[in-house]
Amino acid sequence: MHVLGIETSCDETAVAIYHPQKGLMAHVLHSQIATHNEYGGVVPELASRDHVRKLLPLIGRVLQDGKLTGADIDGIAYTAGPGLMGALLVGAATARSLAWAWNIPAIAVHHMEGHLLAPMLEDDAPALPFVALLISGGHTLLIEVSAIGRYRLLGETLDDAAGEAFDKTAKLLGLSYPGGPALSRLAETGKPRFQFPRPMTDRPGLDFSFSGLKTSVLNTFNNSKQTTQDKADIAFAFQQAIAETLTIKCHRALQQTGLKTLVVAGGVSANTAIRQQLGTMTTAEHARIYFPRPEFCTDNGAMIAYAGYQRLKAGQSQDLTLFARPRWPMAQLLSV
Ligand code: KG4
Ligand code: ZN
Repeated sequence: MHVLGIETSCDETAVAIYHPQKGLMAHVLHSQIATHNEYGGVVPELASRDHVRKLLPLIGRVLQDGKLTGADIDGIAYTAGPGLMGALLVGAATARSLAWAWNIPAIAVHHMEGHLLAPMLEDDAPALPFVALLISGGHTLLIEVSAIGRYRLLGETLDDAAGEAFDKTAKLLGLSYPGGPALSRLAETGKPRFQFPRPMTDRPGLDFSFSGLKTSVLNTFNNSKQTTQDKADIAFAFQQAIAETLTIKCHRALQQTGLKTLVVAGGVSANTAIRQQLGTMTTAEHARIYFPRPEFCTDNGAMIAYAGYQRLKAGQSQDLTLFARPRWPMAQLLSV
């Protein structure tokens, strides 16, 4: 079964083809960073228009790269939410129309389920059950995964997502969008000088909050001379605070569930400092940790093709109605 995966939920147009025996056959991605850079963040209308321009040519390219034609595709998976409505509709309409024309099933995929399953694309894939930490630009979730589609929410952010905190702090420090990778590069030249709070770690529970950390960073920045070294030191301390907060909560989640496997995914899981701190914790706990390869931490089509394959294999698919949900709680997903 060849599954075409389409991702257009935000600022990346990405397409991939997955086959259960042959693995990932091809994947392509167009990033809209250059389009949104001058605005300091994603402009939804520009995102939709760019998806319209890029999606069909990318589908053509991925078929060519995989040495396949439309006739070889057995199912189409598309990100149906959460995300920007206009952007989602481009993917949904294209996927649904192609599936109708090719007379094959189409499946709506939850973007965060895509991220969650991305580590399954690696040779050394995690075995179920596990605890998953999903850290992206819009979400920070701790989930107990007992089977694909069986997700119990253990904790989530009460305000900003981890990636959002990175992006806002980066903006404050004068770095360009998206801020996460830029901030992490700046932190490499930072020294341990400032100490920021580890929000909500002093009380029980698995929820997160990053807005207070943002205020703390803002105050420190305003009280500094704002030199390049000041900025690097702030970036370093901020990254440490996020990494330690996430690590404390993951440790707690493993203890609470009694599970020994941690899966970390989503854009922020590309961060080296965070990977290292979590890795040190799981080694000490005799637990195993899994991440996607860095290019599959951030948005991509491969994770959507893979998640879609799992659901199509279980016989799930959508009718001809376009399915797009800007807000879509993971708990509403069916198990496979
Ligand atoms: O998963 P993703 O590509 O898109 C969403 O679903 O939101 O995540 C994007 C987020 C952005 O906030 C970006 O700044 C952050 O992931 N990010 C990073 C790194 N790479 C991407 N944050 C910290 N360190 C990184 N290396
Ligand atoms: Zn994402």
